[in-house]
Amino acid sequence: DWTIDNFIDMKVEEIRHQVGDRNVLCALSGGVDSSVVAALIHKAIGNQLTCIFVDHGLLRKNEAEDVTTTFSDDFDMNFIKIDAADRFLSKLENVTDPEQKRKIIGNEFIYVFDDEADKLTDIDFLAQGTLYTDVIESGTETAQTIKSHHNVGGLPEHMQFDLIEPLNTLFKDEVRELGLQLGLPETIVWRQPFPGPGLGIRVLGEVTREKLEIVRESDAILREEIAAAGLERDIWQYFTVLPDIRSVGVMGDVRTYDYTIGIRAVTSVDGMTSDWARIPWEILEKISTRLVNDVEQINRVVYDVTSKPPSTIEWE
Ligand code: XMP
Repeated sequence: DWTIDNFIDMKVEEIRHQVGDRNVLCALSGGVDSSVVAALIHKAIGNQLTCIFVDHGLLRKNEAEDVTTTFSDDFDMNFIKIDAADRFLSKLENVTDPEQKRKIIGNEFIYVFDDEADKLTDIDFLAQGTLYTDVIESGTETAQTIKSHHNVGGLPEHMQFDLIEPLNTLFKDEVRELGLQLGLPETIVWRQPFPGPGLGIRVLGEVTREKLEIVRESDAILREEIAAAGLERDIWQYFTVLPDIRSVGVMGDVRTYDYTIGIRAVTSVDGMTSDWARIPWEILEKISTRLVNDVEQINRVVYDVTSKPPSTIEWE
């Protein structure tokens, strides 16, 4: 009989057998899959596992702190957090093309990870959160396009590790169940999908610290209000985007010339197609009021009412 408990026992055995007294490295993103992999392998081999978490400065509000608390404090893992914001942001200076931005962020991620991994000795294995769906997809040509779109091009040749992919027979809902069973918090287990390039593709055009701050603050407010309305699990993905638009407004007696923020919220099964979420007007109104009042330099809020296709979920 397949149960989560049986699965954990079986995988723990398997991982211990495979790894022996050697060491495993894991690139932890804070997403569901890599978090569950880390928790499972940690259960099997404890501090023979080292996790590297790269903060590229394009994360959501409090994300780096939350991940650090969970894995470094609560789970007491060998956890290395790299603050690489300066490195990423300087590489992104003057870059406006979305695919160019993706490429730069993806490559820089590998360089940073590689630099750090080089300092560790005696690593034989790399743990990855590959799911069953990824295994099926990677057989087809479509999947290759999807993969490169999602920036998992792979590691450089010299990083020759054996892979450990203990989730590669599971579907997403099973991974969530497993995560809960392993003691991961709901905030991680039910985290909405978040793209590798992060807020870097939600500041449209050139990424600056100032604009990142606007999109980060507005995203935090949106998430708070969606949670307060109890809509977290009904909406597949929800976030704000900062287009390169300024328009005229009036606050008190003063004419303003400030940014417009876009709200994107979609329902979807797998991200391949999506519909815009029918968030009740009153909730949108509350969000809009808070965004304009609480985030500096925003004087207008728009709601994206396009499905995918013809739009995409992200704006870049
Ligand atoms: P689109 O915008 O293509 O997004 O409709 C579909 C899903 O993929 C995510 N996405 C990305 N994920 N790297 C990622 O890891 C990327 O470059 C990327 N672009 C889009 C998006 O958030 C949505 O969940």
